[in-house]
Amino acid sequence: MSLSKIIAIANQKGGVGKTTTAINLSSALGILEQKVLLIDADPQANATSGLGVISKNVEVSIVNLFQVDLSADQCIVETHSPNLKLIPGSIKLSEIEINVENPNLNRLKTAVDSIKNQFDFIIIDCAPSLGYITLNSFVAADAVIIPVQCEFFALDGLRKLLSTIKSIKKSFNKDLNIEGILMTMFDERLSHNNHVVKELKKHFKDLIFKTIIRRNVSLSEASSYGTSVFDYKVSSVGSTNYLNLCREIMKNQTLVKQKPLGKKIPQIMKETEEAVLLDPLTKERNLDNFKPFAFKDQNFEMLRGCTKNEIITNLGLVYNDLHSDIWMYRISNKLSLFKKNYLYIYFYKNKVKHLKLRRLKLS
Ligand SMILES: Nc1ncnc2c1ncn2[C@@H]1O[C@H](COP(=O)(O)OP(=O)(O)OP(=O)(O)O)[C@@H](O)[C@H]1O
Ligand SMILES: [Mg+2]
Repeated sequence: MSLSKIIAIANQKGGVGKTTTAINLSSALGILEQKVLLIDADPQANATSGLGVISKNVEVSIVNLFQVDLSADQCIVETHSPNLKLIPGSIKLSEIEINVENPNLNRLKTAVDSIKNQFDFIIIDCAPSLGYITLNSFVAADAVIIPVQCEFFALDGLRKLLSTIKSIKKSFNKDLNIEGILMTMFDERLSHNNHVVKELKKHFKDLIFKTIIRRNVSLSEASSYGTSVFDYKVSSVGSTNYLNLCREIMKNQTLVKQKPLGKKIPQIMKETEEAVLLDPLTKERNLDNFKPFAFKDQNFEMLRGCTKNEIITNLGLVYNDLHSDIWMYRISNKLSLFKKNYLYIYFYKNKVKHLKLRRLKLS
């Protein structure tokens, strides 16, 4: 049995954050050392351009999978994001949607099955429709993530979407599950946003992801620069939110190989954590998911040998370039308002080699 998991990101409602989720979830999984393929199943090809790939400059796309003129393997292109590959979208996909002569809901599945052993996760970014291509995506997938915008009418169409998923499950793909409903573009200052969150939680309970994606301008800016939020601004709320979503999904994914060293870190944290309050600055920036932590000097040594994946999964987000080999973690420090402690982690060949505690003065 393959270890890979195929997740379609779908909602026939437009502009709810499907593509933003597809790009940043895929990138986050890649950063956490999972091998990832993103399939852009939308004629708008936003996920393709959002990853800096210009569709008219690439010769292959998802269209070839539907025309069956190339193997799926031949349609994969590289991206700048680590461990992330792409099957680009194309405007020509809309012609296929319109002129289906021999409708075959298994077409995408057949293509995806031929390459899935190469990946830990395959993410499919769907178009805002419940047409032929999206139904193909549901047949190919193991799970669906449904992004909903925290606005009035969020529930609009959700019933239809859920019943479509149910019929696909019944007739074509008994293994299809709902991975979760993801609330997006949340703004806590807006009372109707809070109201929608409450309603969704009441109706859908466990189906709702614990992680909520906040409205954050870095997310839209990143896409317009053709990069994930992690390459654009790793210290942003959007980056924290999507990394947390990624961790939530990896936790749900029992098939993901657990690396033995990972167990050590929560234990260390328990032993060393002090009761700390977020400082007002952090709160103001809404970095609510960012976990400050405290270490006793002697515990640093225990982090030696851990991988980048284990560090992020267990300690939360770093404040600098995830691809670099020197990471900086802020350590909570209730004693001083003007000085901050940072733990510098130096990697060599992706493993912690050296650790240093530094105190920086804030001007
Ligand atoms: N959390 C967020 N904060 C701020 N802007 C966001 C957020 N999520 C998405 N956006 C912006 O909202 C717009 C719609 O998002 P996105 O393209 O991800 O939605 P979509 O569901 O894929 O749309 P479509 O249905 O057209 O494919 C984009 O301009 C995107 O940059
Ligand atoms: Mg989209």
